[in-house]
Amino acid sequence: MKSMLSIIALLVFVPVFSQDKRDQLIPQPLALQKLQGIVEFRSNSVIAVNTNDSQVLKLASYLEHKLESATGYDLKRTSTVLPSNANFSTIFLSLNNSFEESLGNEGYHLDILENKIALKANRAAGLFYAIQTLLQLFPNEIEAAKGYKTEIWRLPACSITDKPRFAWRGLMLDVSRHFFTTDEVKRFIDDMVKYKFNRLHWHLTDDQGWRLEIKSLPKLTEVGAWRAPREGRMSQMSPPAPGEPLSYGGYYTQNDVKEIVQYARDRFVEVLPEVDVPGHSMAFIASYPELSCTPGTYRVNSGEKLMNWFSGGFEALVDNALCPANEKTYDYLDKVFTEVAALFPFEYIHMGGDECAKNFWAKSAAVKELIQKEQLKDLHEVQSYFVKRVEKIIASKGKKLMGWDEILEGGLPENAAVMSWRGEKGGIEASRLKHPVVMSPTTFAYLDYNQGEAYVEPPIYASLRLNKTYQFEPVPIGALPEMILGGQANLWTEQVPSLRAAQYMIWPRGWAIAESVWSPREKKNWPDFAKRVEAHFERMDLAETKYAKTIYDPIVQAKKSGENGLRIELATEIPGIDIYFSLDETHPDAFYPKYELPFEVPKDAIHLKLITYRNGKPIGRQIDLPIQELRKRAGYK
Ligand code: ACM
Repeated sequence: MKSMLSIIALLVFVPVFSQDKRDQLIPQPLALQKLQGIVEFRSNSVIAVNTNDSQVLKLASYLEHKLESATGYDLKRTSTVLPSNANFSTIFLSLNNSFEESLGNEGYHLDILENKIALKANRAAGLFYAIQTLLQLFPNEIEAAKGYKTEIWRLPACSITDKPRFAWRGLMLDVSRHFFTTDEVKRFIDDMVKYKFNRLHWHLTDDQGWRLEIKSLPKLTEVGAWRAPREGRMSQMSPPAPGEPLSYGGYYTQNDVKEIVQYARDRFVEVLPEVDVPGHSMAFIASYPELSCTPGTYRVNSGEKLMNWFSGGFEALVDNALCPANEKTYDYLDKVFTEVAALFPFEYIHMGGDECAKNFWAKSAAVKELIQKEQLKDLHEVQSYFVKRVEKIIASKGKKLMGWDEILEGGLPENAAVMSWRGEKGGIEASRLKHPVVMSPTTFAYLDYNQGEAYVEPPIYASLRLNKTYQFEPVPIGALPEMILGGQANLWTEQVPSLRAAQYMIWPRGWAIAESVWSPREKKNWPDFAKRVEAHFERMDLAETKYAKTIYDPIVQAKKSGENGLRIELATEIPGIDIYFSLDETHPDAFYPKYELPFEVPKDAIHLKLITYRNGKPIGRQIDLPIQELRKRAGYK
């Protein structure tokens, strides 16, 4: 009878306590001790705060709002902790009376036992992260966008002590190539903080749009924020027709910016603004053509080809670089950075500095004159001259300069910080020169790269699977560890036209980055992470947040075989997945050949069709790969 009862109890548990949430946290905490029992959270539970600290009171409201909107409860707030024999539970937020060194500014304790959920930290930021962990310990339904009605929410007893490995845990959002509204940026922030990111790098300007109101330079947004609407593949789009309305775009007013910065700060996110100069400046130059070394008429790029990329270099087809030999350039940048510095409280301003095509500079008489006057060796030193001038401007506003690793070329300004993107080399070098570094190498942290089968993913020139992202190590061999501020992932949006598309690109790879920058290195474990990822998919579904299920896509390799043959090798990203395939133009299922060993493609086959299953159930999408495509991949013409 007793065992019968416990089976029934188990069954009843299923809807809200189907998995052990203590095994599913992302990012992994520093230390977690499982305890016996559960704590019940019900409509009579209370939130207790025994301080007048305004940040803590704000956090209590944040938590209250989150819990009330999910559960439908009307929670009470108290200032005293309830006795342990009370018939309801308390969530108690408190700050340490004296600073607990080992926790730092962002660490916390979270103890869930009997009828008390205690969150304790040195600073409000630590409490905020304790709240995020607590929410992950609730059943998934706590994330339900439409709320979820149940009498009891059960939390597993545990004691957690946690703090981040790095102070810089960033995500970059490019709002130039595609525009994201203020509400969308807020949603982006909401999603990132669930995984303890704390830096929003806001890429505000580029060739395809200037997105920040600068009151002293109104044309930047009157002209620079607008382009012709286009779908398809950026850099292969049609140029605007004569007279075509430039109806795609938008920008943030200074009030919008203030609102977003405050919204971010309330969630312990600092916003790093980026104004990308001297390259990537087509929108700037379209607004103020006098800033080009090359006289002409200019327009914001609408996705038509702008650059030629070839092995070992690139050049611009239209001059999209600010003129480094024109004093007006520095006057205008002074105006821009005066307003940027006033809007963004963060200590750094990012000045870009990446991918500056210098082929028009090479032809400019003014640049030649500058080279002579300043005794510069080459065009790298011209860029370095420009960067140093910008550094002075930014410093004069009381801010520190950060730039992409190209700013190392030709010599780095004394106080500059470097963001390493072209692999890890620039970051290693800058750290050894004692410059602060943020690591965001393409090899692990570029979320615009496709993450599954390239043939069916949005078009892009490179791939980065989740398992590779998870290998991100912010302190590469050879770097000076104390100079590494942390790491971040970058979302360029050439092929990301909407917030849902952005979510798809960020998750789950953002979780791999989050764990790489928060959790102790020794706690990282790919098979365990892969399981936790799947547990979080359900939370995302409930939250109505898009994410990629590309971990279920087979990894397809095509190789030349013999004279003219084609050999296919398949693999899966996570264990326990079966791949079934067809070569006869019909749709495969679990009764088709299961992939066991590499095979030769038979004569005249048109498609390789693939589907993945787990435990006898389809789990992946069907992918139809033209044999022609696979032959190309193998290196046939
Ligand atoms: C970059 O990806 N161009 C910084």
